Amino acid sequence: MHNAEAPHAPTRLIDYRPPDWLVPQVKLRFELEAQRTLVHATLHVVRNGAHDRPLRLDGQALELLHLAVDGAAHDHRLADEKLTIALGADAAVVETSVAIAPAANTRLMGLYASGGLLCTQCEAEGFRRITFFPDRPDVLSLYSVRLEADAAAYPVLLANGNPGATGALPDGRHFAEWDDPIPKPCYLFAAVAGDLSALSDRFTTMSGREVALNIWTAAADVARCGHAMAALKASMAWDERVYGREYDLDVFNIVAVADFNFGAMENKGLNIFNSKYVLADAETATDWDFDSIAGIVAHEYFHNWSGNRVTCRDWFQLSLKEGFTVFRDQQFSADQGSAAVKRIEDVRGLRGMQFAEDAGPLAHPVRPDSYVEISNFYTATIYNKGAEIIRMMHRLLGEARFRAASDSYFAANDGRAATVEDFLAAMAGQGLDADTFARWYRTRGTPVVAAALSHDAEAATATLTLRQSNPRAPDAAPLPIPLATALFGRQTGARLGEERLILLDQAETRVTFEAVREPPVLSINRGFSAPVLVQAAQSADDLAFLAAHDDDGFGRYEAMQQLLLNALIQSAGGGGTAGQEAVIAAVRATLRQADADPAFVAETVLLPAEALIGDRMGEVDPEAIHAAREALRRTLSGALREEWWALFHGLADTDFALTPLAKGRRRLRGVALGMLMAGDDHEATAAAFLMFADAATMTDRMAALGALANSRAVEREEALRLFEARHGADANAMDKWYAVQAASSRPDTLAAVRRLQQRADYSPANPNRLRSLVLTFANNQLRFHAADGGGYDFLTETLLAVDAINPQSAARLAAPLGRWKRFDAGRAGLMRRALERIRATPGLSKDVQEMVSNSLE
Ligand code: PHE
Ligand code: ZN
Repeated sequence: MHNAEAPHAPTRLIDYRPPDWLVPQVKLRFELEAQRTLVHATLHVVRNGAHDRPLRLDGQALELLHLAVDGAAHDHRLADEKLTIALGADAAVVETSVAIAPAANTRLMGLYASGGLLCTQCEAEGFRRITFFPDRPDVLSLYSVRLEADAAAYPVLLANGNPGATGALPDGRHFAEWDDPIPKPCYLFAAVAGDLSALSDRFTTMSGREVALNIWTAAADVARCGHAMAALKASMAWDERVYGREYDLDVFNIVAVADFNFGAMENKGLNIFNSKYVLADAETATDWDFDSIAGIVAHEYFHNWSGNRVTCRDWFQLSLKEGFTVFRDQQFSADQGSAAVKRIEDVRGLRGMQFAEDAGPLAHPVRPDSYVEISNFYTATIYNKGAEIIRMMHRLLGEARFRAASDSYFAANDGRAATVEDFLAAMAGQGLDADTFARWYRTRGTPVVAAALSHDAEAATATLTLRQSNPRAPDAAPLPIPLATALFGRQTGARLGEERLILLDQAETRVTFEAVREPPVLSINRGFSAPVLVQAAQSADDLAFLAAHDDDGFGRYEAMQQLLLNALIQSAGGGGTAGQEAVIAAVRATLRQADADPAFVAETVLLPAEALIGDRMGEVDPEAIHAAREALRRTLSGALREEWWALFHGLADTDFALTPLAKGRRRLRGVALGMLMAGDDHEATAAAFLMFADAATMTDRMAALGALANSRAVEREEALRLFEARHGADANAMDKWYAVQAASSRPDTLAAVRRLQQRADYSPANPNRLRSLVLTFANNQLRFHAADGGGYDFLTETLLAVDAINPQSAARLAAPLGRWKRFDAGRAGLMRRALERIRATPGLSKDVQEMVSNSLE
């Protein structure tokens, strides 16, 4: 096989050059219409430095209608999505008029239609689909914007900044003007037009400034915006208190849209959200949805400083804003509820997504060296590993010095397009060793830390030997790895001395502990202080001991999970079930803490996901892994039957509260139900159906439906039917209905998915719907990886069809095939063939081309 087309040239970090021309001021006038919108732009351009290079503006899918320089016609060249204009003077006023077609814009980049709305998405390189412009984040401009549209179809007209004049125009049209007083890169531009209603509120900032807050959505959904609004106000107060950051405009607008490529977007003063992350009530949203909404509202709000006031010099610095902002939203969420449970959830996500990415063909450093399509780099590595790097700095510096460093970062870089070095320099000002820390940004792969503890009973000392390696970057310099470590006495169960923060910054290090008078058990990487894989060769006894005695909540979780994982790997690898009594005993002991902290217990006893088990095995055998996990589930189900039933009944609540305790009770009840359902037990099936039918919350309804979805019982079809009857008109709720079927372990899942694809309310053009059905199925390890390759064929066909509509969506579907090296020769061959078939298809987007060719390497 060969490439159908010449590969696209990569963009490289080392080629960065400052912009030739700056654009201190921009005026935009939009004549909005869904079919054909006219955009009139006036750019004040200024030569940057001494050179004679022309002005080069990016433009994609634009029809150029008019061009003038300083008021007169001017020579220009339009080729390869670039408009080139030679300018004699050092400053000029460049005017262009272009036509664009929002209704035909299925990529959802630039200006597009969603339902009856018109809205924009510009990050990373979408502004070039709106007007000719130097579409790069280091060109900062003051924007003034005028929107004109039909008053009946688009009564609300929003853009960045503060509102200005509004008024009527002939022919039933009207206009609204917006002025943004803060310079920004064009990726933060936004405009929205539509028939929207708002939930409105106010916030008074720490210096006494009044800010009007609005969450805009269809009138019928305003009642579902309260949770997002509460989260917004909490975020604004939190960023003042914890980071000293104050909001800087008179209004803050959020708009919910149904068609959106990602979760949400931090456009200056006008955040645009996937409606999934705004709308919530007990009827339609799970506890997970409520928590995600609060976290994402906070995330986008926090970008106002980490991203907008201080922006990125180029897209290689993406983690400068994303890693830092994820860390900030994680801190915020930890402060809102249980910090230990939040940490567990974040680490679960990191291991599931980022560790897998770092181990596969799409591994890249947190600051990549090159990319073909930047949209492909909004990854778990940039976001979540980036956040872990910030967290390590926070831990090493401590709260006060980290805050001082953050203050000086914001002060020194306000209004600038900054780099990772700028961030590190601020941290270095408080004592961080920035040069060695910078290695974290350029080294791909998950570091492995081998830990061995030996005890000298006579000398009453213990010696810990730590060795780091990185299989994906064997020649890389050692990383600075902070490992929170403690020892516990096996006889007394007590901690021996204080927790120590060991900084492993060499290939190997040896640490001695004094006054160790009884055999010690090692608790290491407590709180997950570093994003590494620890290999400590701990016995089942040690793990059970830690699950019971570690005084770090994360440590107890970790020990229990490792115990479960070891049992699963042993049995999936054909090693049988010897030793599972220890697992049962440890689970039983953990369940005794259910009253005190049900959320923690739920996380701790939940069996590791099949994909995670696969990640830790030499070769993934989907059937053996599923069988092993089901068998352990049946074992725990049978051995602890009374406990699970007691939890199931005792945790039933009829009211709807969003307190951490109430959410924890629902979560643990769901886990108990899952255990009871092992083996398709009749009594449990009936209980699940009753729970489904009586559910007072979407959390309970989905927990029951999820359990039933794997079953052969007749109640399954009935529950699915009832759910559709109840929620058929609600897209966000129906996405759950699609997903629960695509995740099913039933043998007919692929056939069901293909049938669901034919439904009238299924559309591959809607990213949420596509994700709930197709991506959920592609992450169903058991059924997607059916040995006959049927899953791979399905994904290939879908991906190719979607690529013609929305390349960003299509590219995301390629990643599951990239795991081919992890499977047996039969599956690996089929997966490779699927990738090659995609690569050989003419007209492929560069998004998919890059993903597929990287996956084949
Ligand atoms: N910058 C957004 C965020 O993380 C993500 C995003 C990227 C949204 C690209 C849309 C397009 O908050
Ligand atoms: Zn972000």
